[in-house]
Amino acid sequence: MTTHDVLIIGAGLAGMRAAVAIPAHLNVGIISKVHPVRSHSVAAEGGINAAIHPDDSWEAHMYDTVKGSDWLGDQDAIEVLCQEAPQDIHRLEQMGALFSRDAAGRIAQRNFGGLGFPRTCYVADRTGHALVHLLYEQLLKRNATVYEEWYVTSLIVQEGVCCGATVLNIRDGEVSAIGAKAVILATGGCGRVYKISTNGLINTGDGMALAYRAGVPLQDMEFIQFHPTTLKETGILITEGARGEGGYLFNSRGERFMEKYAPKMKELASRDVVSRAAYQEIMEGRGVEGCVMLDLRHLGKKKILEKLPQIWELSQTYAGVNLAEAPVPITPGVHYVMGGIKTNLWGETPLPGLYAAGECASVSVHGANRLGGNALMETITYGRRTGTSAAEFSAKAKQIPLPDVKEERARIDAIRLSSKGEKIGAVWGDVGSIMADYFGIVRAKDRMKEGVQQLQSVRPRLLNLALMDHGHIFNMELIEALQLYSVMDLAEVIATAALHREESRGAHFRSDFPKRDDTHWLKHTLSYKTETGLRLEYQPVTLTRVPLAERAY
Ligand code: FUM
Repeated sequence: MTTHDVLIIGAGLAGMRAAVAIPAHLNVGIISKVHPVRSHSVAAEGGINAAIHPDDSWEAHMYDTVKGSDWLGDQDAIEVLCQEAPQDIHRLEQMGALFSRDAAGRIAQRNFGGLGFPRTCYVADRTGHALVHLLYEQLLKRNATVYEEWYVTSLIVQEGVCCGATVLNIRDGEVSAIGAKAVILATGGCGRVYKISTNGLINTGDGMALAYRAGVPLQDMEFIQFHPTTLKETGILITEGARGEGGYLFNSRGERFMEKYAPKMKELASRDVVSRAAYQEIMEGRGVEGCVMLDLRHLGKKKILEKLPQIWELSQTYAGVNLAEAPVPITPGVHYVMGGIKTNLWGETPLPGLYAAGECASVSVHGANRLGGNALMETITYGRRTGTSAAEFSAKAKQIPLPDVKEERARIDAIRLSSKGEKIGAVWGDVGSIMADYFGIVRAKDRMKEGVQQLQSVRPRLLNLALMDHGHIFNMELIEALQLYSVMDLAEVIATAALHREESRGAHFRSDFPKRDDTHWLKHTLSYKTETGLRLEYQPVTLTRVPLAERAY
């Protein structure tokens, strides 16, 4: 039997940062359904927030984050993030991160949405790419066992403790068990629950679904972030750095419409505010073929190429636009889930032995709306903390004997051999469309009720999937089927939590309850999977330094 002191599931920034934080004498395994450098963290563009400038402060970062979260973020968690971020950035630099520099040679920082100070450190507009490769080098140095292209099919819980996972080696289709004294989930987000998303095809929420099925609550899943600037139909991300460097948004009348919605911060209001504004412009007939226009022409080619080389290429390739000569049509698109597996400040979930960090977790620093640049910071700061605490737990724990995997193998075989029924893509497409149509930027009770009913009618179709590939070797159709199970579970959680939250807060906007309601809804939603179905519970928000206030940008 293969065992590790700590098994990390997911090898993006949070997972790799956790691995690197674990003392060298401990035996670490890190498992990913893709090669680590293909993890979705690699797609992060605009930057990572930390108050490293002498004129900035962690308190100001905290204030911006609490306000950005529409006061749903837990302030103790936000305080930890903002206080520890500067040291974590310097640690990354010591590891070799090639941050862009300012004229004085310091780490350069740019404006980003919802920030009162230019606080976003960056590597041009390829920040995630640079950090993933940096941490992969550190991981190799750390000498962990890397299971690349393995898929985790379930968590193993014995004696009330998470003690490993059942895994499928994608290369040969073998199902086996890996034991661990502590398990960390760092599997990223679930953007692929929606039809179009900035997220890679791998962002199917598997870690959240694994935890949920093991009885661990998912917190605040109704809060789905729509990024204001994505390319129509492909959902490709056009970084917020474009607005941070001075880009404007225009409607079809040539009006810089953000002046109306956020007179002070304009295009650099928080993402939920800018996305709703763009959506409203489009819905009220002031869009351009379902888009509004992002204009960078005034920045000039030299600056665009220096600061934003990736979106220059993306706009050229996928929209046929030369950013120095023309504005690019953009539309708000699904980008991030604020909620996730409930954890405390050290990444511990309510299930002993199970930890979570990064986008799949909810500690909760983002509350109802995340600020751009805070996700990367969370992967690093909470990845490190989670690795540290899982290591401490594992040092005191014993390996619990693992059960036979016969039943799990039979479950996977039944899916693999299923040949009568529907194509996976048809079912997945319907889930994605229901989520886009009924649980989008603006929500209302009747529509959401209908959406929930439609999801209920899709669920039985998962028992009737027809696979064309019944083989063992690199059976990606089987992986797709297993991912669809994750997507279905999470769609139900998002929909149910959204239907029940009868207020508007951050990214959750309800046309039937258009105001924030602190009297009744200043609380986290917890979604539990039970034998009788999904159960919701609520839990108070932790408030410390930043008093409640109305949000205006
Ligand atoms: O716009 C962006 O570059 C995205 C950054 C983020 O989601 O933090």
